[in-house]
Amino acid sequence: MNNKDLQTIVAWAKRRGFVYPGSSIYGGLANAWDLWPYGTILRKNIIDLWWKEFIQKRPDIIPLDAAILMNPKVWEASGHVENFNDPMIDDKNTWERFRVDKLIEAKIEELRQQLTDEQILEKINKEFWVTNLIPESWSFDQMKAFIEKYIPNNPNTWKPANWTDVRKFNLMFKTHQGVIEDESTVVYLRPETAQWIFVNFKNILDTMRVKLPFGIAQIWKAFRNEITPGNFLYRVREFEQMEIEYFVEPEKDEEYFEKWKKWSWNWWTKTIWIKEENLRFRDHEPDELSHYSKWTTDIEYYFPWWWWELQGIARRTDYDLRQHMKHSGQDLQYSDPKTWKRFIPWVIEPSWGLTRAIFTTMLDAYDEEQYTDPKWRTQTRVVARFHKNVAPIKFAILPLLEKNEDMVNLAQNIFKELSQDYMVELDIKGNIWKRYRRQDEIWTPYCITIDYQTLEDWTVTIRDRDTMQQQRIKIEEIKKFM
Ligand code: GAP
Repeated sequence: MNNKDLQTIVAWAKRRGFVYPGSSIYGGLANAWDLWPYGTILRKNIIDLWWKEFIQKRPDIIPLDAAILMNPKVWEASGHVENFNDPMIDDKNTWERFRVDKLIEAKIEELRQQLTDEQILEKINKEFWVTNLIPESWSFDQMKAFIEKYIPNNPNTWKPANWTDVRKFNLMFKTHQGVIEDESTVVYLRPETAQWIFVNFKNILDTMRVKLPFGIAQIWKAFRNEITPGNFLYRVREFEQMEIEYFVEPEKDEEYFEKWKKWSWNWWTKTIWIKEENLRFRDHEPDELSHYSKWTTDIEYYFPWWWWELQGIARRTDYDLRQHMKHSGQDLQYSDPKTWKRFIPWVIEPSWGLTRAIFTTMLDAYDEEQYTDPKWRTQTRVVARFHKNVAPIKFAILPLLEKNEDMVNLAQNIFKELSQDYMVELDIKGNIWKRYRRQDEIWTPYCITIDYQTLEDWTVTIRDRDTMQQQRIKIEEIKKFM
């Protein structure tokens, strides 16, 4: 299972150029992170693998790329202005604000050190009448009662807290469009990519000649003013999603929901190769469901702290299209081309967190192992066991001696050739073993070394990252290794 230490992963991600704190020369901006070169390539690889699986290989799914800012009426109709809230609580002594369900989850996690889940539930069921260990689904009164009893101190100061009641906090970022800042110019940064798809459903029907079942896919930014961001890239205020709204006949809702569970699971386990034992499905409790969903199943990952959500798969029914019909006055029904029956399609929504996928891929891959170096000393090497599909760099080209012009020229020519098809790195300087170590840390599948023999017979050594074994091959055979 997953007992990796988060601080180690964050330090490695910084050291090896994957992720770095944002605005760092100004002391950073809380919970804002930037992707650095390898993180940027990793993100692109994940997107490409998702795109290939769900857009390129699927005649029934089309892509689009919509504007972030939309008419604010969209968010009134979708229910986000009214319902997109998290429960918050303030400590009146310090006026610090906390997300209540996360405070409670942390406490439950602490109780798990001494009690089983059944014992915890039995105890708090007697005290607060709760029937599960998912605080998101509890009533505000139950949350407050739990906090009063089990979390008397402010978790930051450790001094007794003076808690307010539990209240709702809307997560949408508000801003203003144009030069006047009043209520009439309010716009929201979208909290999910999905709504544009519903708003443009009729345009898509009219222009794209689509037939049920079909999906519309979108990748990119979403924003949420999270009360308690944290855990590195897990919960941030600016993040990316890869979402599909898949439209079906109402009676096929369950059938396609099951299919999307399977397709999603396969993508995580067989396309980007997250370890299956670190993944599970979890159905939402009825009180935990988002306002638009009739049923949601999450794919969860076993993070160093607990099982938490990676992807949601929701049965959104006809909720969104019906709401937009009501608020816009437009007809968003679909006409069956055979029967001419008109109806509002239902929607299955698999929604992947791209930012969480980047984090999880790094977390799942990170490892440390013992090996014996050429001088028979035992060493620890950091290895990020990315699958070849996902690894940021596919080949590293290492001329043995920086000062040997022939070796460096040849390395540059091999770079030119391989970089037509792959991300390749040319690493010229330094001790060859240190260069290998650097590539192991980012899990480059193959290191190609150009040495004296290369100049004589046009062979190179190719080193496999897993076995650290090297073999000599002809230059023209390199591509076969991929
Ligand atoms: N359109 C449906 C929707 O947005 P969601 O479960 O709220 O559903 C979908 O979000 C996915 O977006 C989540 O499974 C998660 O991976 C990602 N996500 C949500 N909030 C996030 C945050 N604050 N930081 C990073 N990723 C987030």
